[in-house]
Amino acid sequence: MTKADTAPEQSPLLRPNILEAEGIVKQFGSSRLFGRSDPVRAVDGVSLQVRKGERLAIVGESGCGKSTLGRCLLRLIEADAGSVRFEGVDLMSLDDKAMRQTRKALQIVFQDPYASLNPRHTVATLIGEPIRFHGLAKGRDVADHVARMLGLVGLPEAYASRYPHEFSGGQRQRIAIARALASGPRLLVGDEPVSALDVSIQAQIINLLEDLGSELGFTLVLIAHNLAVIRHVSERVAVMYLGEIVEFAPADALFETPLHPYTQALIASAPIADPAARRQHALLDGDPPSPSRPPSGCRFHTRCAHARARCSSERPVSETVEGGRSVSCHFWREIAAAGASAPLAFTPSIQRQQRIAVFADALRQPSSQGGSITP
Ligand SMILES: Nc1ncnc2c1ncn2[C@@H]1O[C@H](COP(=O)(O)OP(=O)(O)OP(=O)(O)O)[C@@H](O)[C@H]1O
Ligand code: SF4
Ligand SMILES: [Mg+2]
Repeated sequence: MTKADTAPEQSPLLRPNILEAEGIVKQFGSSRLFGRSDPVRAVDGVSLQVRKGERLAIVGESGCGKSTLGRCLLRLIEADAGSVRFEGVDLMSLDDKAMRQTRKALQIVFQDPYASLNPRHTVATLIGEPIRFHGLAKGRDVADHVARMLGLVGLPEAYASRYPHEFSGGQRQRIAIARALASGPRLLVGDEPVSALDVSIQAQIINLLEDLGSELGFTLVLIAHNLAVIRHVSERVAVMYLGEIVEFAPADALFETPLHPYTQALIASAPIADPAARRQHALLDGDPPSPSRPPSGCRFHTRCAHARARCSSERPVSETVEGGRSVSCHFWREIAAAGASAPLAFTPSIQRQQRIAVFADALRQPSSQGGSITP
């Protein structure tokens, strides 16, 4: 696939869908060792469209179902209900052989490069495995393919004969990315691909994924905790709370004018939050309730600063909003109107724009630790 095929300069809203998920549900049965307990509703009716060539982020607190959703989208685990169409093909309808064939187009990079790379295999074997498995090269050509992949992720081809333990965390994640990209995926899910790394190295890996996405034209679904990373890299953002998507919006709009009280609290509570946002919005208090017994009505009502009687009895539906957005809150219009009447409510401050620029610069800086690729 070439860069021109995906027209990356085009607004994500105008691009065709590469993946369409409808009503995804995934529950995990609880242990019966200590008596009956309710299943965990990790993902509870999520619908999502991913546009070709975009960088889409999925964000939310720990345990809200991000990884489970990511795995369901790639059919790494089977959803209990719902459908996933990839390039128009219903993934759930594929038999094992067809799914294996499709797998090369759907890849994932995990959080922990220590766990995801078999320590007994050389880099050549690790990266060569998907190349051989999918029949992309044979014999000596596999080594050439491996060398090309190492070059793509900024590592010398001489590293092919080494083992994972000989590398730093950042280098290992580069190897994991090379392995994931070796089969030429058209959709890559990054499940917290930098959260186990040093902050300085995080920036390099995120920039690498962004650059490779533009160069190779793959679509990136990025699961991440760090709102600064998401703000910098993603074009659209899905915000999850207790197994549901509560807000979906282009990244700029989401950060400038978050509509859902949960998104507002998440942004206000983040380390990079704008002081104006902190003044305007309640910070996020306490932990989310258990996903095995989610609150009635709006699941966020037990923590929402705007909750009223209706919120605990009636589940909000997702409402489509101008600008390619959607939000699930009974009172989002009133909350937005009240915020808009306050002078600093939803106006991006110059200070905030400067902070984003400073963060973007920090992400671009080569670091003393991760920039060199010494063994
Ligand atoms: N294999 C499993 N068996 C039982 N419960 C599971 C399993 N995988 C996930 N869960 C539960 O499902 C819920 C969602 O988990 P998930 O890992 O998808 O969340 P997450 O948003 O990715 O969290 P984190 O940010 O910590 O990675 C959690 O309550 C988790 O404990
Ligand atoms: S529906 Fe009610 S509880 Fe839920 S986010 Fe909106 S105001 Fe808060
Ligand atoms: Mg996770």
